[in-house]
Amino acid sequence: MNLDGTVIREGSTQLLVPSLISERGPGKIEGRVFFNRQMAFNRDISVALFHSVIRPRKCLDAMAATGARGIRVCNEAPGDYRFIINDKEPLACDHIQRNIELNSLENAEASNADLRCLLAEEVFDYIDLDPFGTPIPFVPSALQGMARKGILAVTATDTASLSGTHPGKCRRRYMANSQRNPFLHESGLRIMIGTIVRMAAQEDKGVTPLLCYYADHYFRLFLRTRDGAGAADASLEQLGMMSYDRATGERKVGEGKMGPMWLGPLFDREAISAAAVPEGLECPERVRQHFEIWKEELDVPFYYETNEIAAMLKLSPPGREELMEGMLAIGKVSRTNFSPTGFRTDRPLEEVLEAFRSTCR
Ligand SMILES: C[S@@+](CC[C@H](N)C(=O)[O-])C[C@H]1O[C@@H](n2cnc3c(N)ncnc32)[C@H](O)[C@@H]1O
Repeated sequence: MNLDGTVIREGSTQLLVPSLISERGPGKIEGRVFFNRQMAFNRDISVALFHSVIRPRKCLDAMAATGARGIRVCNEAPGDYRFIINDKEPLACDHIQRNIELNSLENAEASNADLRCLLAEEVFDYIDLDPFGTPIPFVPSALQGMARKGILAVTATDTASLSGTHPGKCRRRYMANSQRNPFLHESGLRIMIGTIVRMAAQEDKGVTPLLCYYADHYFRLFLRTRDGAGAADASLEQLGMMSYDRATGERKVGEGKMGPMWLGPLFDREAISAAAVPEGLECPERVRQHFEIWKEELDVPFYYETNEIAAMLKLSPPGREELMEGMLAIGKVSRTNFSPTGFRTDRPLEEVLEAFRSTCR
């Protein structure tokens, strides 16, 4: 079969991709088969987790386009697992087949089905959803096709509707209230997790984050799922509301109009601490930096932005080192992967403001 395209290398894997592809941003749909170079970091994280953190046996890349993610994992992460790499578009499935052959993979199989049909018939213990925009319409099928214990991985590019830009859309899709704020990607991600927790609870399944983050223009979630009413109740316990006061900068957790959202940890520190950065990734330095921050990032919702506090106090923002030292003098402080200029602390806002003033003096 003669497929139009170019063979590129991403990480240590060869991929036949269409000649016309997206280079940046959420990616434009250029032809019948989609590929976005900017998602290489997202795929690198999947490879790293399969290397050292997760050990599923039967995996589904449910919306695979060229198959880039599943193909890379199979080629770059050793292990005793099998991947079904699926797309409903027949031409995409031809690319998947060709990419399996290009990399001589024996643990991957191309599939051409609507994921809803596939997941009505087969059970997997790792399911990856990577749609255009919101993943919510596909979550019920993924929950239905998930083993008793499994991992649901989700990419969502509709960050604007979750982060307060379109509150009406957020209410309709995610059954939650959003509001624009300086930590909008954290609140958006927590709303998204909260919605999946509630959907899973309807099926008596519990959901807990293995690793959830924001990067570039998307949210990425790796969620552990487990069958049982007790597990579902325990996950629901971690949902709540919050409020943000624009005038004072105050974040109140557990009360307010924003939410419901997940208020528990965004990642499992113990599991993530075991993560190694394998050789041959596409963006190894960026992956290393992210794991370094995740290993130290405080589990305290919600982070502060240096510019936000500086503007409130009408002060010039201090240097990064000075700020971290000033905050360390009053309590715990850490960087956050949400923003290079953000920080987390376990101290209340009035102490943060005082420490900030002292640092700027
Ligand atoms: C954003 S692309 C996936 C990108 C890919 N995961 C990657 O890393 O390059 C979304 C894909 O989902 C496929 N898709 C949409 N609805 C689907 C469905 N119901 N079942 C299976 N595939 C579907 C589309 O054909 C498209 O190729």
